[in-house]
Amino acid sequence: MCGIVGIIANEPVAEKIVEALRRLEYRGYDSAGLATLEQGHLTRRRAAGKLKNLEEKLRQEPLHGTIGIGHTRWATHGRPTENNAHPHATKRVAVVHNGIIENFRELREELTAQGHVFVSETDTEVVAHLVDHELQSGKSPSEAVAAALPRLRGAFALAFLFEGAEGLLIGARLGAPLAVGYGTDAMYLGSDALALAPFTDRISYMEDGDWVVLDRNSAHFTNAKGQSVTRPHLRSQASAFLIDKGNHRHFMAKEIHEQPEVVGRTLAHYLDMSQGCVRLPFDLPFDPAQISRITITACGTAFFAGLIAKYWIERFARLPVEIDVASEFRYREAPMDPQGLMIVVSQSGETADTLAGLRYAKQNGQNILSVVNVTTSTMARESDVIAPTLAGPEIGVASTKAFTCQLTVLACLAVALGRARGTLSPEVEKTLVTELIALPGLMAEAMKREAAIESLAPALAKAKDVLYLGRGTSYPLALEGALKLKEISYIHAEGYAAGELKHGPIALIDEAMPVIVIAPFDHVFEKTVSNMQEVAARGGKLILIGDDNAERDSAVALQATIKMPTMAPTFSAIAYSIPVQLLAYHIAVFMGKDVDQPRNLAKSVTVE
Ligand code: G6P
Repeated sequence: MCGIVGIIANEPVAEKIVEALRRLEYRGYDSAGLATLEQGHLTRRRAAGKLKNLEEKLRQEPLHGTIGIGHTRWATHGRPTENNAHPHATKRVAVVHNGIIENFRELREELTAQGHVFVSETDTEVVAHLVDHELQSGKSPSEAVAAALPRLRGAFALAFLFEGAEGLLIGARLGAPLAVGYGTDAMYLGSDALALAPFTDRISYMEDGDWVVLDRNSAHFTNAKGQSVTRPHLRSQASAFLIDKGNHRHFMAKEIHEQPEVVGRTLAHYLDMSQGCVRLPFDLPFDPAQISRITITACGTAFFAGLIAKYWIERFARLPVEIDVASEFRYREAPMDPQGLMIVVSQSGETADTLAGLRYAKQNGQNILSVVNVTTSTMARESDVIAPTLAGPEIGVASTKAFTCQLTVLACLAVALGRARGTLSPEVEKTLVTELIALPGLMAEAMKREAAIESLAPALAKAKDVLYLGRGTSYPLALEGALKLKEISYIHAEGYAAGELKHGPIALIDEAMPVIVIAPFDHVFEKTVSNMQEVAARGGKLILIGDDNAERDSAVALQATIKMPTMAPTFSAIAYSIPVQLLAYHIAVFMGKDVDQPRNLAKSVTVE
C-alpha cells in the first residue's frame, strides 16, 4: 500500500505534496515524509504517525523547494518509526516506494559488501542505494534508474528525486499503481488520480513495467522492453468529488448515510425502471448461455459481497459459483472451465491479491468481469468488461457504501444472467426489480433506527467477544458484521452460519457473550429461531436484527431488537447492512476509536 506523490513546478511544492498525501492517507498512515531540493540539496522531513505530525514538523522547519516527492506509509518491512519513514535517501538520490522489494536482502548484502551503509529496517532503502551505486559509476539519473529497475523483484511504484537535478523527477511502476498528471508548467506523479485532483484532471496511467522521466512540461515513458512509448491522456473524473465529511463526524458516518442515494444511483444505472427489467449498461463480450461456471474472487469486505452474490447467481442463473479469497485463489492452481466467467470484486480495483487472481484467470482462458468502484483502476483496465459501482470515493477505511453498491451491481448481474440463460421468467424478473427499486427507501427507513442502535453501544462496548449469526445471505452479512466490528472497535468478533453454531462456537456462549442475530423474515427464519433458542438456553445475550414478524415469532428472551422495516427477503442483505454498519460504528465511536483510520489497516492493499 502506501501512497506516493511527486511534484515538479515553478513554486514551492511542500504544501501541495502534503495536500496530495492527505488524499492518499487511506493507503496507509503509519508515518509520512517528503523531500525537496533546497538550493539543489536533497532535504527531508519525516514523522512517525499520522500526516498531521509531518505537517507540524513542516511548520517548524519549512521546505521551499520547487520539486519534491512525498509518502504516506503502511509499514511492511520495519516498524513505523521516523527512521523507517520514506523518503529513503543517500547523498545523491531520494526515493519513495509503494510495494515490496522481495529480493531486498540479497541486494542489501551485495551493496553492503560494496561499502553502502544502511540506516533503516526497510526494503525500500536498497532502491536508493542501488540507484546511488549506478550514479557513482558515472551514469546519469535516467541511466541509473534504467540499470537499477531490472534488478528489483516484487511490486513497486517508485518516485525518485536527485541531488542537484532541479528539473527532473523519475517514476516507475511494476504491480502497484502510478499516475502521471499534466499541469501548467508543472507535472505530477501520484498513486491515484484522486491525489492529484486538486492540481490537474489530465492524467496518464502508467502500464506495468513502465518508467517515466518528467520535467516541468512533459513526460517521457519507457516500457518494460526499454522502448520509448506514449500513454494516452485521459480526463479524470476525480476532481468532481469533494473529499469532505459534510455535517458528519467521520467519513464512515457520511458514507453510511450516503447509501440510499448511491445504491439508488447504481440501480438507476442498471435497471430499466419503467419496463421493470435489468438493463446492463454494457454488452457482455460472451454468451451467458454458454457459460458453464462462475468463479468469484475478492478480498475483505468485497469477498463477502461476492459470497452473498453466490446465493443470488446460483438461484437465478442456475450456474455453479465458486468463490475464494484472492490470496488463496491465486496460488491454489484451481482448474478452470474453458467457458468460465471470472468475476472480481474490488472497491479500489488495485488490491494485489485480487489482481493476481484476475491475471491467473485470464491466463486460464476465463472471461473477466470486474465489479469495481474505480473505473480507471488496473483491474478495470485488465478486464474484458467492467461493471462499475457508483458509490463515489470511499474514504473511511472500513468499507460501507462500496459494499452495498457491490451487492446492488451483483444482484442486477445475477438477474440479468438468469434472464439471458432462460432460468428466470420475465414475471419473476419484474418482481425482483420491484424489490430492488424498494431498497433505497428501506435503507433510509433503517437509518432512522440509528438512535436506538447508538443506545446499545455502551453495553456492547464492554464485550470482549461478539458473535454474529445468520443463515442464507445473512450468513455472509454476519461475517461482514463481525469484520466491521473488529476492524474499527478492536473487539474480537466472529461471524457464523447460524446452523453451524452447535458444531463448536456454542461452547463460547455464556452471560458475557452478546450474540447478534441477523434474521430477516425469510424461508430459513424458523431454522434461525431454533439456533436462537440454543443460545438463550445457555444464557447468551441475544440481539435480533429483524422486523416485527421476526420479533414476534422468535419466541425467546431478547436483550434488544434492532427493528427493521418489513421487506421482501431476497435482497434483504443490502438493507440489513445499514444496522450492521451503524452498530459497529457507534460501538467504536463510544470507545473513542479512530473509526476512519483504524490501527494497522489501510484501504488499498497493493501488497500480498
Ligand atoms: C482492505 C480494506 C477493506 C477492503 C479490502 C479489499 O483490507 O481495509 O475494507 O474490503 O481491502 O479492498 P478492495 O479495494 O479490493 O475492495
